[in-house]
Amino acid sequence: MTTRQKLAILLEDQEEGFLSGSAIADQLHITRAAVWKNIRQLEEEGYVIEAVNNRGYRLAPEHDVLSEHAVRKELESAGETFELEVFREVESTNNLLKDHAQEYADWHTAIADHQISGKGRRGRSFFSPSGSGIYLSMLIRLPLEAMEATRITTAAAVAACRAIEKTTDARPEIKWVNDVFVNGKKICGILTEASISMESGRLDWAVMGIGLNVYEPEGGFPEELQNIAGAITSKRQKNLRSRLAAAFMEEFRHICSHLDSPLLVTEYKKRSFILGLPVNVLKGEESLPAIAEDIDDNCALIVRYPDGSREALSSGEVSIRI
Ligand code: BTN
Repeated sequence: MTTRQKLAILLEDQEEGFLSGSAIADQLHITRAAVWKNIRQLEEEGYVIEAVNNRGYRLAPEHDVLSEHAVRKELESAGETFELEVFREVESTNNLLKDHAQEYADWHTAIADHQISGKGRRGRSFFSPSGSGIYLSMLIRLPLEAMEATRITTAAAVAACRAIEKTTDARPEIKWVNDVFVNGKKICGILTEASISMESGRLDWAVMGIGLNVYEPEGGFPEELQNIAGAITSKRQKNLRSRLAAAFMEEFRHICSHLDSPLLVTEYKKRSFILGLPVNVLKGEESLPAIAEDIDDNCALIVRYPDGSREALSSGEVSIRI
């Protein structure tokens, strides 16, 4: 572990008050000048540090850097253990886990502060700037039929809602099939990619990837997302992203241990805001007007078309008609 990482942990573990420069220097066996140099480097990485004459250093109350130490601490206090990696920057956390799916253990989790090429559904990209979101992927091995694998995404949407409610005042709602909204804006997207055994038709492994816009990104969302994307909160809070990531991991794994429970669909449905609304069903280039009527026991969306016919959509996309 580098001196900078050790200093970050000292600051993160300091619950109240300041850590004096000399106390840090003693604990890390470095000079006061080296303390100052490492503080500067942490600031360049995004740490928000208050320095006060004659008192020392502490993390600012609004400090929120995604940190492996902070996520682990949260998980430990909840009695949870995961194989975990936290990165400043990766190409895509989903790709990273897919590349190592054979080596990594179940529930191996990769979290990034920034993705260079975050992937969205339908071949789209997912805007993944640094300092504002959580980009998290988990490796899952569960004895599921190919058709049942969509439940993983359902579980992730419900787990995201629970984790957001546990750590913030926001009121998340689900838009079928796997988007989570706060205040009418999308704050979360989920992309599950899977390898299915050709012999058994069962799941070899799946990578569930979730992107959460915790805060509005610096400089705002790009123009094409401004009417669609939003943030969970407008108030930066100490370690919120680490707390939220840990809460999501716990909730998600817990729900996955009862993936066949009818209670999952009940909760998903209760949290869905689309029922009763006019929608457009997107099928390739086509966009068909319909009413979102119900969600069935397999989480398929039942839509009614203007001619009265109904269809159960088990995957795909709908947009709300205004
Ligand atoms: C969507 O709404 O289109 C799905 C977005 C999924 C984004 C997440 S972020 C973590 C993981 N890594 C990726 O490259 N994509 C998923």
